[in-house]
Amino acid sequence: MDLNEFLRRADALEASARTLVASLQPGTRLDDAKGRLNAVAAEEVAALRAALRTLPPEDRPAAGQAFNRLSQALTRVVENYAASLRSANSGVGATDLSMPARTQWRGARHPVTMVIDEIAGIFRELGFTIALGPEAETAWYNFGALNFPPDHPAMELHDTLYLRDDVLLRTHTSPVQVRTLQSYRPPVRVLIPGNVYRRDFFDATHAPAFAQLEGLAVDEGISFVDLKATLAEFARRFYGGTRRVRFGPSYFPFTEPSAQMDVGVGLQDGRGLRWVEIMGCGLVHPAVLESAGLDSERYTGWAFGMGPARIAMSRHDINDIRLLYDSDVRFLEQFTS
Ligand code: DAH
Repeated sequence: MDLNEFLRRADALEASARTLVASLQPGTRLDDAKGRLNAVAAEEVAALRAALRTLPPEDRPAAGQAFNRLSQALTRVVENYAASLRSANSGVGATDLSMPARTQWRGARHPVTMVIDEIAGIFRELGFTIALGPEAETAWYNFGALNFPPDHPAMELHDTLYLRDDVLLRTHTSPVQVRTLQSYRPPVRVLIPGNVYRRDFFDATHAPAFAQLEGLAVDEGISFVDLKATLAEFARRFYGGTRRVRFGPSYFPFTEPSAQMDVGVGLQDGRGLRWVEIMGCGLVHPAVLESAGLDSERYTGWAFGMGPARIAMSRHDINDIRLLYDSDVRFLEQFTS
């Protein structure tokens, strides 16, 4: 090999190293890239190194400088490739194709939200609109306006979370009945979803914060017949026509008469049938209408309140309410449709 050939082969090797790296599949790992480069260059580099010793002495300085430039160029080709891999992996949304695949999480509605949405859809068809009210509420709206006697046990500190003397976290969505009637003249038909708070332990059947769904219908000439017909129609649409429902007596300060509606769960042939209470209801107490400034001689109404978490539990056979409020994705992902 003479000097000219030496210089030509050194240049050619540098050029083919660049071409090789430029033509790598995007994301080729650094080790693989080095291996491919080695396969192309190792033999030729060895040949050139050997030629350095056989060239005439006067050509050796020029050949030696060319050889050094070549090995620096090869090193730089590898370094540049490593740098390009690093910057591809650090950009927003960049993907390192050599990483193992990651599970993609998709958001989904919570089983309690699904119950609320489904029930709201049914009542929308029955002519109800949605109404909302504050979670921090005055004692008057939460108790007084709803005809609770001043010494009612629910008002005690051990049942209710007070923020200040007269301000508390609402213990139910019923105060929104009064707020709605103060803002809208009858006829009123509203469904009131919201979170409520009680000073309870968090155990299998109690949560200190949970969702409620309240309903209210007020107009002239409303009677218990409207309550029964509407709620039975709701149950037919929610549970299907074969599910049995029954009404029984109950007591709430803000309704008179008061009732509860139960649905039959389990076998429907009489054996193994269990009754589960799904809501409290009743005719709005005249004192509640008067609290809102309505003439209780002219207007009557009915109301109900239910716990969507309880309904989700009976629907899915869940026996611990904490499962619904713990936000454990391994539990919740079972309900994604
Ligand atoms: N507010 C009651 C509770 O939290 C539920 C309730 C019962 C609401 C009967 C009503 C009703 O509107 O008529 O336990």
